[in-house]
Amino acid sequence: MSVLTTLARMWLTRSTKPFTFRSEYDPILPYPECEGLGLYVHIPFCRSLCAFCPYCKTLYSPEKCGRYIDALLKEIELVGGSFPGRKKCTSLYFGGGTPALAADRIGEIISALEKHFEITEGVGLELHPDNVTPEVLRALKAAGVTKISIGVQSFLPQFQKTLGRKPVDAETMKSALREVNFETVSMDFIFALPGQTYEDLKSDIDTAFAIGANHVAIYPFIDFTFTPGKVKPLGKREKLHLLDSITRYCLEEKGLSRNSIWTFTSETGAKYSSMTRDNFLGFGCSATTLLKKQFKINTFSVEEYIKRVYSGKLPTSLTIRFTKRQRMIYYLFWTLYSTRLDPRDFEAFFGVPLRKMYGFEFALARLLGFLKSENGVYRMTLKGAFYYHHFENDYTLAYIDKMWGIMRHQPFPASIIL
Ligand SMILES: C[S@@+](CC[C@H](N)C(=O)[O-])C[C@H]1O[C@@H](n2cnc3c(N)ncnc32)[C@H](O)[C@@H]1O
Ligand code: SF4
Repeated sequence: MSVLTTLARMWLTRSTKPFTFRSEYDPILPYPECEGLGLYVHIPFCRSLCAFCPYCKTLYSPEKCGRYIDALLKEIELVGGSFPGRKKCTSLYFGGGTPALAADRIGEIISALEKHFEITEGVGLELHPDNVTPEVLRALKAAGVTKISIGVQSFLPQFQKTLGRKPVDAETMKSALREVNFETVSMDFIFALPGQTYEDLKSDIDTAFAIGANHVAIYPFIDFTFTPGKVKPLGKREKLHLLDSITRYCLEEKGLSRNSIWTFTSETGAKYSSMTRDNFLGFGCSATTLLKKQFKINTFSVEEYIKRVYSGKLPTSLTIRFTKRQRMIYYLFWTLYSTRLDPRDFEAFFGVPLRKMYGFEFALARLLGFLKSENGVYRMTLKGAFYYHHFENDYTLAYIDKMWGIMRHQPFPASIIL
């Protein structure tokens, strides 16, 4: 783990205590006390497995996917059935893997969740470009999906080749998207691939908006240590330069708005983000749950997940019980991801003013030009977003890479210390 990440953690948590995840088990998740609760469902199946991808995924088979979804419905019942009534939730996101492969059962999952939760801000779901057909889109819309996110990566065949994927047919996608409308049509792109230029990225973004997207996510390529891929991203300097120029293009030339570090939108109502929630409940293997004082992560193994749920227990693999400062930096990290932070929300959540806990750090961030304050709300500047990107990259490699690297081999590790 980098020295800088460790020092930043110690400084911000005012403690040398690391993040310790243990195999502790709680049969009940105290979510009714949480406001702004989001829901997440993980569907880990893909038609083929990409060598660069770190997510919890496995090859699709109708039999395995069917058994998994039966177990998922049980997990929803175990969690939702532990409290009476219907808890108000913000959004529901289906991620993966490729959840669109289970398009015929998404309606069933949404109904199971709606028995216990009232979803107020719509339902999002991820698709592989191959799934963008009128039939699949119609099935998803009929099931209640309102936002879709398509993993394009690049419209340029040479970069699909670098990533070991086949070319994307933009025209087929365009006609399917014209037939079936969604409130948000987001497309994922990966940048900082070897040889990729500003012009390449610009043409990808232009094509996305021309064929029906109203939102794009532009992710920096991350070379996870445990993935088998051999592709190396551009150097840090080139990567940041590309990020800076493409951000300026999106904001200044295309007139898009930024609604998170990586996402840009052409319509104010278009949103696609499962991470920027104060609290969330996660269902399915590898899904995480964030509550007032703890964070949990489910087992990564599909078979162990199914076994656990059928034994009447939750599939939790690890739990961390946060200290107050640990929870605060988790909150600040993900809220700042949206590039906006209202100190009143922080105070409502923690019962203590932000200036009392992190007054010095926020004053310093303003002095350095990373944040500015508008009517009492902090907004991240272009410079701030640039450095946040640095920090996020280090955080991903220090924490997520290590944790996922272990969890993909051990369904229930005794502990992980980060
Ligand atoms: C679950 S996939 C999207 C849906 C579908 N499975 C697909 O690939 O089209 C989520 C997104 O994560 C991003 N991603 C995956 N591996 C990445 C990596 N190593 N670095 C950066 N982004 C990555 C890709 O943009 C991908 O579209
Ligand atoms: S990038 Fe998408 S299709 Fe490829 S392995 Fe990851 S989740 Fe599956």
